Amino acid sequence: MAVMALKCPDIEVVVVDVSRPRIDAWNGDHLPIFEPGLAEVVKARRGKNLFFTADVERHVADADIVFVSVNTPTKTRGLGAGKAVDLAYWESAARMVADVSHSGKVVVEKSTVPVRTAEAIEKILAHNGHGVEFQVLSNPEFLAEGTAVGDLLCPDRVLIGGRDSAAGRNAVQTLRDVYARWVPVDRIITTNLWSAELSKLAANAFLAQRVSSVNAISALCEATGADVTEVARAVGKDPRIGGRFLDAGVGFGGSCFQKDTLSLVYACECSGLPEAAGYWRQVVAMNDYQKSRFVRRVVSSMFNTVAGKKVAVLGFAFKKGTGDTRESPAIDVCRGLLGERAHVSVYDPMVSEEQIQRDLAPAAAPAKARSRVAVARDAYEAARGAHGVCILTEWDEFRALDYRRIHGGMEKPAFVFDGRNVVDAGELREMGFVVYCVGKPL
Ligand code: UGA
Repeated sequence: MAVMALKCPDIEVVVVDVSRPRIDAWNGDHLPIFEPGLAEVVKARRGKNLFFTADVERHVADADIVFVSVNTPTKTRGLGAGKAVDLAYWESAARMVADVSHSGKVVVEKSTVPVRTAEAIEKILAHNGHGVEFQVLSNPEFLAEGTAVGDLLCPDRVLIGGRDSAAGRNAVQTLRDVYARWVPVDRIITTNLWSAELSKLAANAFLAQRVSSVNAISALCEATGADVTEVARAVGKDPRIGGRFLDAGVGFGGSCFQKDTLSLVYACECSGLPEAAGYWRQVVAMNDYQKSRFVRRVVSSMFNTVAGKKVAVLGFAFKKGTGDTRESPAIDVCRGLLGERAHVSVYDPMVSEEQIQRDLAPAAAPAKARSRVAVARDAYEAARGAHGVCILTEWDEFRALDYRRIHGGMEKPAFVFDGRNVVDAGELREMGFVVYCVGKPL
């Protein structure tokens, strides 16, 4: 919305949220999320045509277009638990929109939703409104964290799905005109509602599948002496495959890939397509395997026990450029190590101690894990006295560390387990480290 305000100075953009502290943060000096370049965009437009307020109902009532960007997490209980999407926030948002609206509106699905959600939303709006006309559009978001501002300024594509009726086409055109102010029109794709909803899930499942494919190859590389970086480079040179998004690692994380792939699994199951469901389920299973394989490698390398040993964990965010830890593979790896009774010392340049402790606290006995989880101020402190170092996020600073100094402060033999292939293994071996890199010869 901030980028939209930047690019459309004649449109008033009002961001509303039920959480007052969150709105206060958006109006203050410290934005509630870290995203490179975002603070500058917000500061450029805030108070001009970009506003943040907790006065939700008044501003929804006044709006011509309402973008709904509420959480759509995976259900944790009930039917479809662990796979299906929980649409409770969406439903209550739709009921509120219906309740407060006395003028017609275009209601835009920005949140990632299961295919055919718009049908349910249309019914809620129609049955609870005051006779005004609503048009529901699907306009999924394809930005990635860490590059969000650039992705929005220069998107590969903008996707808008709507009803194939005069009013539906009109609504699509309204939204298209907004984006056309800065996005070349040949990048604005219009489709029917269900295609737009499904394309979002399919895009993330394809991306997740690519990562799982290269990770599956990485396991075979380790078993055969091939090098996954060389294989990925050779494979990616084929333009039908392409070289991007083929980095083997400790597994994908983030709030979207697993959730959206599982949502696709559930949609297949509900549509009576168990084979298609099984195919996509395997993408997530492969990711779980990659994380547990990494933990097994750490334990087996360190003489089959890490009990009582200090292990440094460098990087906790799910990827570089963000402080987000949702579904970060670091959480599962740390849990695996803690389960083997290791002491973990975590350092991440963007993630707070509070967040790390919260992510690692077992629900049953929070204090127990805390005593074996330390959070360090830098990589050197994390590695001091450690038997092993695990690199779990590809932060640039981990490439430039003084590994000789790190080696000097560690127990021997000193191990490095590079879950993101950021170090120069040859150089580290010369220093005396025992080095494991994902998908590379030992
Ligand atoms: C992802 C998609 O890339 C966006 O297009 C989409 O809009 C977004 O989800 C969303 O649905 O909101 P994001 O989760 O921010 O974006 O992060 P990615 O850059 O896709 O990375 C996801 C995970 O895959 C990270 O843990 C990353 O380290 C891992 N990854 C990525 C690899 O292990 N190898 C790669 O080659 C690429």
